[in-house]
Amino acid sequence: MNVPLISPSILSADFARLGEEVRAIDAAGADWIHVDVMDGHFVPNITIGPAVVKALRPHSAKPFDVHLMIAPVDLYLEAFAAAGADIITVHAEAGPHVHRTVQAIKALGKKAGISLNPATPAKVLDYLIDEIDLVLVMSVNPGFGGQSFIPSQLRKIEAVRKMIDKTGRPIHLEVDGGVDAKIAVQCVDAGADVLVAGTAAFRGGADCYATNIAALKGASL
Ligand code: DX5
Ligand code: ZN
Repeated sequence: MNVPLISPSILSADFARLGEEVRAIDAAGADWIHVDVMDGHFVPNITIGPAVVKALRPHSAKPFDVHLMIAPVDLYLEAFAAAGADIITVHAEAGPHVHRTVQAIKALGKKAGISLNPATPAKVLDYLIDEIDLVLVMSVNPGFGGQSFIPSQLRKIEAVRKMIDKTGRPIHLEVDGGVDAKIAVQCVDAGADVLVAGTAAFRGGADCYATNIAALKGASL
């Protein structure tokens, strides 16, 4: 398979030692650092805000892949950009004016991603695809780590891959939720080039991180 980029979700890290965890996962071969931001409103869980992103920024030079599961979202874009986000991904379902949100992210000089919930069709990208840098296909319902991959999302990954290829632009296709080494192969075969992994990346503690990431990339150490 093509070797995907791995974006470990710090949602599965030890929150009491987040800086150390980010350094460890970076050293273990993470390509990006995935930051799950939840508001207890758009999703039924609350995690972290821009202050934590800012505090973590000095701990890694890798791109911070910030996944905003919050609504409304526009009010907070500037804070996450200032905190050190490189890619800001918002949900297509998070508000009525997602095109405006994408424009706002670009105006801040950041890469813009659109995330689709499992029930959201790829079609919502029709009038966004020419503006964005990344599509994030959620393969679980957002809110929690450790859930099972929803197999129907493989079809969506294939559909989005076709849309991206048609644009001829370098748009990343990222998959998030329930991805382990076995499912990683299916996602890459369907057209994904970036995989988020929480449980599968942070499993077993720091001594296992390099092996975990290698396994997600289809190799063994
Ligand atoms: C879910 C988050 C994911 C998730 C990944 O709402 O966006 O990033 O926590 O964790 P695993 O890999 O455990 O499903
Ligand atoms: Zn995520």
